[in-house]
Amino acid sequence: MLRQAIADHIGPARGIPADPEDIVIVGGSQDGLTLIAQAFGHHCNTFLHEDPCYQGARFAFHGTGWTCTPVPVDAQGIEVERLPERGPSLLYVTPSHQYPIGMTMTLERRLALLDWAERTDSLIIEDDYDGEFRYEGAPLTALRGLDRTGRVIYLGTFSKSIGPGLRLGFVIASPGGGGAAEALEAAQQQLRALAGTGGDGRVHGLRRFPAAPAAHPGALHEPP
Ligand SMILES: Cc1ncc(COP(=O)(O)O)c(C=O)c1O
Repeated sequence: MLRQAIADHIGPARGIPADPEDIVIVGGSQDGLTLIAQAFGHHCNTFLHEDPCYQGARFAFHGTGWTCTPVPVDAQGIEVERLPERGPSLLYVTPSHQYPIGMTMTLERRLALLDWAERTDSLIIEDDYDGEFRYEGAPLTALRGLDRTGRVIYLGTFSKSIGPGLRLGFVIASPGGGGAAEALEAAQQQLRALAGTGGDGRVHGLRRFPAAPAAHPGALHEPP
């Protein structure tokens, strides 16, 4: 029921068509980031993030053994031409409202970013932490809503619209047609398992985290 309500909300609100089956409920975005960091280590080599960025994202990835590489932003958003052409990478962005600077990623930049992801077999984490809010005009369609090849892992939260004490967020990582489809499918299963939800979407008992982080081979530790 909760997943159906979220699917009904993000369709019209964020331009994201979603099957409730593809929505994984998590304890807020921070929890979602940790689960993603644990689930995608086998597909991607490097974690890239906006510079400056939300430190919570960096901590989640650094803490699970990823090498974290900053990529500068300008007034339009992340500088796509500075992204590595050798993939696959996992890139974290805040397109609706760059954290902490605050600009919205332009449509041109969003399309260039999706092209880059397809070209390099990379995946993008869209942290849409406050995407429902906009001072002028309607909110822009989320990056995930523009994604035609299943490259964008969408991370939503109710911390800004309802309250952070609720600890309610969700991840959508359903596969598209891209080469990363297999990794997404596997990660989606793993996300469900880590989040402790069965096929019916209900939370079963306490969350179980793996004893050791699922770091990808050769991951280098870098100070936060
Ligand atoms: C950019 C960004 N992402 C994620 C979060 C964390 O949200 P949550 O409370 O859902 O963990 C915050 C919190 O302020 C944030 O600023």
